Amino acid sequence: MTRRRPRGNPWADHYTRKAQKERYPARSVYKLQEIQKKHRIIAKGGRVLDLGCAPGSWLLHAAELTGPSGRVVGVDLQAVTITLPAHAEAHVGDLQALEADFWDKAGALFDVVLSDMAPATTGNKDVDAARSLNLCEAAFSVARERLSPGGAFVCKIFQGEDVKRFSDAVRSAFKIHKIYKPQSSRKASREIYIIGAGKH
Ligand SMILES: C[S@@+](CC[C@H](N)C(=O)[O-])C[C@H]1O[C@@H](n2cnc3c(N)ncnc32)[C@H](O)[C@@H]1O
Repeated sequence: MTRRRPRGNPWADHYTRKAQKERYPARSVYKLQEIQKKHRIIAKGGRVLDLGCAPGSWLLHAAELTGPSGRVVGVDLQAVTITLPAHAEAHVGDLQALEADFWDKAGALFDVVLSDMAPATTGNKDVDAARSLNLCEAAFSVARERLSPGGAFVCKIFQGEDVKRFSDAVRSAFKIHKIYKPQSSRKASREIYIIGAGKH
């Protein structure tokens, strides 16, 4: 008897199905939901910058949390193709090579900087961790420049030898510092989230 190959996404799970049902473009939305529930990062009326925003789940959820009195701006290498509410927008761009006028379009200061950026993975955990760290350093640099005092930073990082150094650097820039692995993050994934709140 020949065995049938499973159809569709072999990684599909409870959260993937839930995201489809609730009309979010990716299951990653539940990581932001968990972060928000536990750490209350995004406030109504807040200005949120979402780095690595495609396909747009965090953008959508952040826009729900800020409500229309807030503003949510995303940037990603890939275009976001879903329909966003009027107070949310997505730009195509490389965070490490932004166009000179990006901040004129996006806004100068934010209350929250989110980074769910992830490199294209190679399967080599050291290479992937180094690439993830590189993106985190770029996100942290933006957070230092663009967060208003008291602001918050959430950054995905792949665990590797430099996580502690990066985490300590974030700790020194914020009053509150946490490391968090949401339940909805796959157990096999090496990702964790570094959270800083109350920027000095
Ligand atoms: C896990 S996805 C983000 C999912 C998103 N939070 C959501 O909920 O829809 C990671 C994203 O990081 C983006 N990315 C990776 N390197 C980037 C860079 N240098 N500049 C901007 N975006 C980048 C990728 O294109 C990818 O879309």
